[in-house]
Amino acid sequence: MNVINKEISFGEIEQVFQIENAIFGNSIKESIVKSLNSETSKYFISKCEGEVVAFCNLYIYDTEAEIINIAVKEEFRGFGISKQLFNFSLKKCSKVEVVFLEVKESNRVAINLYNSLGFEFSGRRKRYYSSNEDAIVMKKQRRK
Ligand SMILES: CC(C)(COP(=O)(O)OP(=O)(O)OC[C@H]1O[C@@H](n2cnc3c(N)ncnc32)[C@H](O)[C@@H]1OP(=O)(O)O)[C@@H](O)C(=O)NCCC(=O)NCCS
Repeated sequence: MNVINKEISFGEIEQVFQIENAIFGNSIKESIVKSLNSETSKYFISKCEGEVVAFCNLYIYDTEAEIINIAVKEEFRGFGISKQLFNFSLKKCSKVEVVFLEVKESNRVAINLYNSLGFEFSGRRKRYYSSNEDAIVMKKQRRK
């Protein structure tokens, strides 16, 4: 599978919006548009034969980053795309030394992904989600 990773461009906003909305149900197109000129919010994407198949949204606060969302279209899962996309995204954020994220305790696939990327358990936020589910906070220290 020929997949390329890149930072989002204007012409890819609609596709990312559709994927984010389909998977998380809360995408805000304006936020994606604003990320084009933002040093804080970044969208990185994976494309396969011209089609956007995955995205990774990071917030950057100087030397710290947070993964806001990462997702792969269902039919493209299990091919290592999210792993490659995250590693690409982190490479592009050269100042970042530590990355945090929150994930639903029940989201075993995502927790496996983050473990395989070198994230470690950092804490728990009780009833963090509207469903009352706890969030697991994970942290990855970058190795220089
Ligand atoms: C989580 C998600 C991004 C993984 O994307 P993906 O491209 O399919 O994942 P990869 O193929 O890169 O696999 C990376 C790791 O995830 C884990 N993983 C992937 N698919 C898995 C599955 N079906 N069951 C268990 N673990 C799985 C594995 O640890 C894998 O690493 P390994 O192959 O070295 O063992 C994807 O399933 C998705 O979009 N899920 C819905 C959105 C979501 O939950 N995002 C996270 C929000 S916090």
